[in-house]
Amino acid sequence: MSDLLNRRHFLSTSVATATAASLVPVGVAQEEKTPPANDEIIVGVMGLGRGHSLARSFTQQDGVKMKYACDIDDYRASACADDIEKSAGYRPETISDFRQILDDPDIDVLVCAAPNHWHAPATIMACNAGKHVYVEKPCSHNPWEGEMMVKAARKNQRCVQMGSQRRSSDAFITAVQKLHEGIIGRVYQSQSWYNSLRPSMGKGVAAEVPAHFDYDLWQGPAPRVPYKEYIMGDARNHHYNWHWLWHWGNGELGNNGVHALDICRWGLGVDYPVRVTSSGGRYRWDDDQETPDTHVVAFEFEDKQQITWTGLSCNKHTIGSGFVGFFGEEGSMEIDGNGNTKIYDRADKLIEEFSGSYDQNVHIANLLSAIRNDDPMSLFAEIETGHKSTLLCHLGNIAHRTGRTLICRPEDGHIIGDEKAMGYWKREYEPGWEPTV
Ligand SMILES: NC(=O)c1ccc[n+]([C@@H]2O[C@H](COP(=O)([O-])OP(=O)(O)OC[C@H]3O[C@@H](n4cnc5c(N)ncnc54)[C@H](O)[C@@H]3O)[C@@H](O)[C@H]2O)c1
Repeated sequence: MSDLLNRRHFLSTSVATATAASLVPVGVAQEEKTPPANDEIIVGVMGLGRGHSLARSFTQQDGVKMKYACDIDDYRASACADDIEKSAGYRPETISDFRQILDDPDIDVLVCAAPNHWHAPATIMACNAGKHVYVEKPCSHNPWEGEMMVKAARKNQRCVQMGSQRRSSDAFITAVQKLHEGIIGRVYQSQSWYNSLRPSMGKGVAAEVPAHFDYDLWQGPAPRVPYKEYIMGDARNHHYNWHWLWHWGNGELGNNGVHALDICRWGLGVDYPVRVTSSGGRYRWDDDQETPDTHVVAFEFEDKQQITWTGLSCNKHTIGSGFVGFFGEEGSMEIDGNGNTKIYDRADKLIEEFSGSYDQNVHIANLLSAIRNDDPMSLFAEIETGHKSTLLCHLGNIAHRTGRTLICRPEDGHIIGDEKAMGYWKREYEPGWEPTV
């Protein structure tokens, strides 16, 4: 079933089923899944930067309780627990080891907003432990992990939602539906953009690991490297900069590019590319950053269709809608990052426009509904969808790192005839941490 059909099936059935829904506890056999309708869904949130915001959203949902605020940085765990205590009226327990969440039979959902190198290992371990998962984008650190996540979700019959929250926005759903209905004819190209004004990350300095920070567990599945801090203004920080180092991050393409590429892929109705090219580099600053700040990637698909992404991390000026555009035989469409949409005919005359917005609460409600209805395929960003969009980022980065054009198999995106490039398909793991399904 296509991504859109999945969604439309869900939209047409969710209202009817939501009222009749019985809640489904995890980790129990199918025939036992009939708990009382007032059962709560119990969540544990891992990684409390972005996860702090998700914690607020989860605790605003009816019938949800947050049992654990988990971060290896004690300060961040306490700050989140304090905040939830104020907003929700109870205090989640602060913990540093997420395996406590997996071992707790009360827990239904692991929310993973730790850095990218954690997404797949934590998700796979959670599925194997019978938990459902909300995992932040990009869903994986490398292509192999994405395939393993799909396998883990299927084998354990778990709901795994990737945090690409625009997938659940009415505006984006309407825009994509119009594309699929042919409003601009056959769509053959989609362009996407990201612009920002990021400062230099500077040069890391060797430092003693602070007492409130468990660096060993921060590294988890990634082979060990010495601890460094980055000086940003007055603060010395370890957080966030990992995005720009290949050992843990996926650059701007995996950070913000994935949001736009996901919409491009959805609008075009394509899965895996057959040809991938990359151009760019670290053009603006001379510092420790390994990933490009100026990056253009292009993906070609089997039936004469193309997606491009242009990312500038260090210049804010936007071109076009600043997010995504679609070009067809009978017109074009542009959508900004909020879903505000303009549609033009072949003569480039504006023929329709509508305003948009998106809300992560709706995306979270979709996960809760899928769990309650025991219907993973009703997820707006089911893990297989998340994997396909994340894979575009990985392939773009592999093309960049090898300096080569990649030729890929249309069935699964695997790189053909290039052992060096396939060497990036999977990473090395710290002994004992390689995920298994
Ligand atoms: N969907 C969105 O719009 C959106 C927005 C922002 C961030 N994100 C994603 O969320 C993730 C986190 O981003 P961020 O900006 O919060 O990064 P960050 O570095 O600021 O925060 C990550 C947090 O995870 C914690 N952590 C690391 N290992 C952990 C472990 N084993 N157990 C528990 N906690 C652990 C860190 O201590 C830190 O507090 C990224 O993957 C990012 O792409 C998504």
